Amino acid sequence: MGMVATPELAAAVADAGAVGMVALPLAPSDQVAAELAGLKSRTAGVVGINFLMPFLNLDCVEAAADQAKIVEFFYGTPERSLVELTHRGGALTAWQVGSELEACQAADAGCDFLIAQGTEAGGHVRGAMGLFTLLDRVLDVVDLPVVAAGGIGTSRMMAAALAAGADAVRVGTRFLAASEADVNPEYLDRLVAANPEETVLTDVFSVMWPDAPHRVLRSAVEASLAYPGDVVGEVLLGESRTAIPKYSALCPTRTTIGEIAAMALYAGESVGAVKREQPAAEIVRQLVEGAEALLGSRR
Ligand SMILES: Cc1cc2nc3c(=O)[nH]c(=O)nc-3n(C[C@H](O)[C@H](O)[C@H](O)COP(=O)(O)O)c2cc1C
Repeated sequence: MGMVATPELAAAVADAGAVGMVALPLAPSDQVAAELAGLKSRTAGVVGINFLMPFLNLDCVEAAADQAKIVEFFYGTPERSLVELTHRGGALTAWQVGSELEACQAADAGCDFLIAQGTEAGGHVRGAMGLFTLLDRVLDVVDLPVVAAGGIGTSRMMAAALAAGADAVRVGTRFLAASEADVNPEYLDRLVAANPEETVLTDVFSVMWPDAPHRVLRSAVEASLAYPGDVVGEVLLGESRTAIPKYSALCPTRTTIGEIAAMALYAGESVGAVKREQPAAEIVRQLVEGAEALLGSRR
């Protein structure tokens, strides 16, 4: 989840028995290697790293494959050469997909598992089908473990995806409210206040990342369209403050200042499950215990 998914969040999720994912989109390869090595010493759990295909840096992938248990790719056609590169480093390779075609391409490329992302998802959305339609069709065409993603924020939704045949679930938006995430407090307040129908799939926040629909809070679209200036704020990147242009794809972290309401406030339909800030371990426990109770009671 970009800059908001800190190594602290990934470690806390991994410590709780789930898979902790990081994305280090702006880091050079030596920093990727160092961050992942640091994570390995901080948690005995499973940690993976995600790469966005439009911003791919092969040195970073190579460094990651040596250190992480899982290397995942998103937002591009699956490529065998990348899968081979990550396998050479010893990592499992995953691809987040938005269609049956992409699922088949990922399987043909040699991926170890897939993430099927429905259009309910927060952040950038790859496909055009809701989660359960996509999951059903992907399970028909590939013989790989499939993780369900998009709109899953409660144990009821988690149990439903598992009952429908998913091998695991991915949860994004709900972890924006984890104490370990680097989320701007105003963004968090807006997530807590929002209902699922207050999210929208749009292409408004496309500066730095064009041609990539994304689900955000509708209020963010309205505020950015109404915002009169060209710069909505600033963020601390490394040591320096960087201006955030209007319609930037960057979402606000704790060090972001400016018109937070008019920035890319990514949120999935799962936002209704975001009730308050909570430690990541508590979120994992609530989801898993609730889903186990639901699935157990139906056996
Ligand atoms: C703030 C935010 C940032 C995200 N960043 C990434 C990313 O960098 N790479 C990626 O593969 N998916 C990213 N996603 C999408 C997730 O992988 C996942 O598909 C989505 O969160 C699932 O839907 P949910 O948000 O309703 O749980 C992001 C999602 C959010 C909400």
